[in-house]
Amino acid sequence: MPTIVFEPPTGAPKTAEAPEGGAVADICDAHDAPVPFSCRSASCGTCRVEVLEGANLLLAPEDEELDILDMFAAPKTHRLACCAKMKAGPGKIRLRPINDY
Ligand code: FES
Repeated sequence: MPTIVFEPPTGAPKTAEAPEGGAVADICDAHDAPVPFSCRSASCGTCRVEVLEGANLLLAPEDEELDILDMFAAPKTHRLACCAKMKAGPGKIRLRPINDY
């Protein structure tokens, strides 16, 4: 079962279990994770996160996510929390919200 750890730039990390994998946004909602959202549809870039660990536990980004990340000239370690989906299985994912808006 993946464990996902949200590490805000300030404040305590928040940990959640994602037994079946699934949408990062759903885990954020269920655990009140410190990730900001706005459009929730790969349009605004508000939900960008840096993947500090466990990128291999996320499904590859689709074109619409990559287009927004390109607009922000984001490094390959960044993802959109509204689009990213986790694979099922063990492991740890650590995410840090970008919060640069
Ligand atoms: S909330 Fe707008 S791109 Fe994710």
